[in-house]
Amino acid sequence: MDHFNLRHGIAHCEDVPLPAIADAVGTPVYVYSTATLRRHAAVMHQALAALDEPIVAYAVKANPNAAVLATLAREGLGADVVSGGEYSRARFAGMDPDRIVFSGVGKTADEMALALTGGLFQFNIESVAEAETLSRVAASLGIEAPAGFRINPDVEAGTHAKITTGAADNKFGVALADALDAYAHASRLPGLRLQGVAVHIGSQLTSLAPLESAFTKIGELIRDLRAAGCDIRVADLGGGLGVPYDPGLPPPPSPYDYGEMVARVTRDWDASLVFEPGRLITGNAGILLTRVIRVKPGASHPFVIVDAAMNDLMRPALYDAWHAIEAVEPNGRRFTANVVGPVCETGDTFATARNMDEVGEDDLILFRTAGAYAAAMSSTYNSRPLTPEVLVDGDRWAVVRERLPLEALIQRDSVPDWLR
Ligand code: LLP
Repeated sequence: MDHFNLRHGIAHCEDVPLPAIADAVGTPVYVYSTATLRRHAAVMHQALAALDEPIVAYAVKANPNAAVLATLAREGLGADVVSGGEYSRARFAGMDPDRIVFSGVGKTADEMALALTGGLFQFNIESVAEAETLSRVAASLGIEAPAGFRINPDVEAGTHAKITTGAADNKFGVALADALDAYAHASRLPGLRLQGVAVHIGSQLTSLAPLESAFTKIGELIRDLRAAGCDIRVADLGGGLGVPYDPGLPPPPSPYDYGEMVARVTRDWDASLVFEPGRLITGNAGILLTRVIRVKPGASHPFVIVDAAMNDLMRPALYDAWHAIEAVEPNGRRFTANVVGPVCETGDTFATARNMDEVGEDDLILFRTAGAYAAAMSSTYNSRPLTPEVLVDGDRWAVVRERLPLEALIQRDSVPDWLR
């Protein structure tokens, strides 16, 4: 459930009519709902209530806006970070370092030092070579690094190939077959406290079966590691549970189904659990609000050209992702159209042959499920200034990221002397 609904024929975010935001800030603009963020955090906690004080470490990459992070920190969420930038943002927003896990396949020594000196719950290390670097950095700082290996369990996640991470050929983690050797090697390195195991097999998963299969393998590994003398106390089960995008499709398993499965599989693990949901928390807590520039005829269907483009919301171009598209003030009529942005690529297409609310020039439309991997992945391609973000809370709202002024965009470049 989210808080983007029609009231008196006008789409609102909570108590704020979306046209009021478009008039004040311009379009395109991302709009996030505090009530939805809070609800998703609460659902995740309730779904995991049978477990002993799990850490829910929100995957910052999904939406790293400081106001979003500050909202989630107040709900007791920690952070899963994958870069020094994400670590710094999480701390800036008030995230408790004891609830921060550091994932990512290519952590640099500088990033390790940043998190070690600032504090964190655990590094999820992805290779023996990375363990060696972490050992060196930790020993040189005189700080013990809490760590676990991310394991690649070789399961097929059944999601889009570009967001599958737990298959043998993917770049992530240490192969299950090499795990015991990796722990044995790392346990001899100075500066490391090997306390955990981690797994994350992909994103937007619409079945629990691959997750259950991966977790079962992790349970067996924990048993083997303990038998080999490793004191494993933490299991980080990653993120990945899918969210509904298309109301016409069966919804993915609910967080409650997920929590029930986890409780069953991990019953006798005797380990603290960490979770890294991203999309589940922010996906349906945001929309992208955009205005129709004009409608032009097409060979099969009219083209609705909007002022948002692939640089603002990349998911359709990158993953053929489907986002619900609705008029902000629907007139009751429907038509079939292609919805496209102004960027000079055919890939700049949000929807093809979509049956949707009829819209015309200057009308506002919204793209749903744009709170995760949307603003976070935006760029300035075609010299389009980064889209602003707004956070709504009841009847109040604030700009939480300014539109990057065009001058600032251009002034980031410099022309060398010899060209002046
Ligand atoms: N933990 C790790 C180590 C991850 O790599 C990810 C996502 C997550 C947690 C959070 O996964 P989630 O719960 O959000 O599924 N840009 C793509 C998604 C990329 C996901 C990358 N890793 C998209 O727009 O679909």
